[in-house]
Amino acid sequence: MTDWDPHRYRRFETERTQPAVDLLSRVRRKTAKLVVDLGCGPGNSTELLAARFPEAEIIGIDTSPAMIETAQARLPHCRFAVADLAAWRPETPPDVIFANAVLQWLPDHAALLPRLMAHLPAAGTLAIQMPDNLGAPSHSLMRSVASQGPWADRLAPAAADRTILPPLDDYYDLLIRHAETVDVWRTTYHHPLASAAAIVDWVRSTGLRPFLNRLDPAEQEEFLKRYQASLEEAYPARADGLRLLGFERVFMVATRVG
Ligand SMILES: C[S@@+](CC[C@H](N)C(=O)[O-])C[C@H]1O[C@@H](n2cnc3c(N)ncnc32)[C@H](O)[C@@H]1O
Repeated sequence: MTDWDPHRYRRFETERTQPAVDLLSRVRRKTAKLVVDLGCGPGNSTELLAARFPEAEIIGIDTSPAMIETAQARLPHCRFAVADLAAWRPETPPDVIFANAVLQWLPDHAALLPRLMAHLPAAGTLAIQMPDNLGAPSHSLMRSVASQGPWADRLAPAAADRTILPPLDDYYDLLIRHAETVDVWRTTYHHPLASAAAIVDWVRSTGLRPFLNRLDPAEQEEFLKRYQASLEEAYPARADGLRLLGFERVFMVATRVG
């Protein structure tokens, strides 16, 4: 599996960071000593945490060496480490665990989320945002191009890399057993993008990775051609010629008993 590409990911950094801004705005605590950014990527979410909690030690972890290198260069005063959050255990309980746009890549949230809550001290905060867009054309069309080409057998496992998220009510039930307060909400962003090619560019560094990683370069080119053609129809030009990429995301902030 090829590594994540921080440069490609950062092409839409402003749009990708807005949900992290919105998530952090609902974290009520004013101070923290230790904050951990799980799946910190190129440090965009970490940068927000460092600005919000200037007194705190900030640690970012990510499985991607390229992402960690970019984040460390961007924020030399923060500590970064290549690590898989599936096996992550903090040395010291962090006041805030922040996970923006990463947990959708991990299975078994029924076990994972209570485990993350258990790492918090009294009054500690777990803040999570995840895309909930597997039903959107941007993602259903990936699966449909995958299932209809000569690569269908090889790409069948790619569609299983992420599973449809349970309803927010279920997340509330899961978290409230370990928290004093739980705040859950859902937002659909609508990103005006220049073209269908720009939509391809957006998902290429995220949702398309499991598909492209299983194809050789010539197949990748053919896959992208078919996928982009299907996006042209699914995302028609708006009054100004731009395409509106609808992007649904779920949010949750849980605070442990103080
Ligand atoms: C979509 S990016 C999110 C980056 C950033 N947090 C943001 O707000 O834009 C997802 C990141 O999660 C990382 N990631 C995926 N699975 C992971 C895991 N099991 N443990 C740690 N990081 C992981 C990827 O390498 C990638 O950098």
